[in-house]
This record gives sequence, C-alpha cells and structure tokens, in this order.
Amino acid sequence: MAVQINPSILSADFARLADEAEAVAGADWLHVDVMDNHFVPNLTLGVPVVESLARATDTPLDCHLMIEAPDRWAPQYVEAGASSVTFHVEAAAAPVRLAREIRAKGARAAMALRPATPIEPYEDLLPELDMLLIMTVEPGFGGQAFLDIMLSKIRRTRELISKHGLDLWLQIDGGVSASTIERCAEAGADVFVAGSAVYGADDPAEAVRGLRAQAEA
Ligand code: DX5
Ligand code: ZN
Repeated sequence: MAVQINPSILSADFARLADEAEAVAGADWLHVDVMDNHFVPNLTLGVPVVESLARATDTPLDCHLMIEAPDRWAPQYVEAGASSVTFHVEAAAAPVRLAREIRAKGARAAMALRPATPIEPYEDLLPELDMLLIMTVEPGFGGQAFLDIMLSKIRRTRELISKHGLDLWLQIDGGVSASTIERCAEAGADVFVAGSAVYGADDPAEAVRGLRAQAEA
C-alpha cells in the first residue's frame, strides 16, 4: 500500500482548525486526537468539534479515541463524520463487536495498542480491522520522543499481517519526524501520524511532502 501521512491537529491552533486543516491539504487524512482526561491525563475535544471539522474540510478525519468506554462513544464519532475511528484495546469491553459496529456504520475500524500492550494476543482479531495503530509514545501528549523499542513490535506486526494475507493498514503515532520515519517505514509501518513535525514546521505542507518522500524512499 502507498505511504500515508496523517497530520495530527493536536499540535495545531485549536482556535483556527479550519485554516490548519487547509494548511495540510495535501495530507491523506487529518488525525484527530480525542482525550477524556481518564484514559490519558489530558483533555482535548469531542463530538461537536469533530462534527464542525468534518464540515469544514474535504480531508477525511482519522479519529483516535484515547478515552474510556469507547464501546459507547465510538459510534457517535462515525455519525459526526469521521471516516476512520480508532479505539484503544485496553479500554474496549468488546473489541470485535465494536469494530463491527464502526464498519457497519460506514467508517474504517482501527484498534490501538499502548506501548506496553503486546500484539500477539490479538492476532486472531486482525481480520476484523481496517487498521492497527501501534503507539510509539505513551498516549496523551504531542512532542514526546519516539520509543525505539517499538520497532520490533512494528516488525512483528507486519509479519503477522503478511502471514494472514490481510489488507490491513499499519499506523504509528508519536515522535514521527524526519529523523525517525525511515526506520519505521523500513520496519513495516505505512500510515504515519505526525503532529509537532508538521505543525511545528514553518511550512506544514512542505513538512508533509518531506515526510512522505522519506517514507517512500
Ligand atoms: C499522542 C497523540 C498523537 C500526537 C503525536 O498521544 O496520539 O497523535 O499528536 O504528536 P507528535 O507527532 O508530536 O509526537
Ligand atoms: Zn493520535
């Protein structure tokens, strides 16, 4: 699959979200970090903001739910206009049922793993998903240092995807930058979330192009 770059609006100016979406119009998706101050120690935005953002941009929204009780909330993000919804397996009561519900409502279903959560117990769930997200920092904040120890998990996950012949996107999120993206692409990731490396750059659109070129190399 082609490389995808998903800028994270967590590092954007929340008072100018429509403009910030426009600033990265060449991106494949916009990554929207939803935090509830329970699953992670930070609070961001919820359904009404996703609804407004979906109306304000043509770029599809990739909603990353770092929240408790995703079984209850995830379907509402599909209704709000998200094209992909990611729940954390550590918080989900019934991940298979939830993935099926997200798909049935018309969005791509994705499951995320915190750094300390292994992939192996979830091998049999992979066919239920459109994307798997391996966190490469502890979720909660932008601008953290990439965890190199996640490279072997990315590699093992790519092997499982190949072994089962699945058409499953492998996303990574956290600390993705010009100095880390090549290692991650080499390990088998194909969807790259980048917050500070895009919105912290003088020219966010150019940063997206640069990351894409590096990941494709
Ligand atoms: C962190 C969020 C990330 C965050 C990444 O918990 O899930 O999406 O925006 O930020 P950077 O790219 O700055 O590490
Ligand atoms: Zn995220």
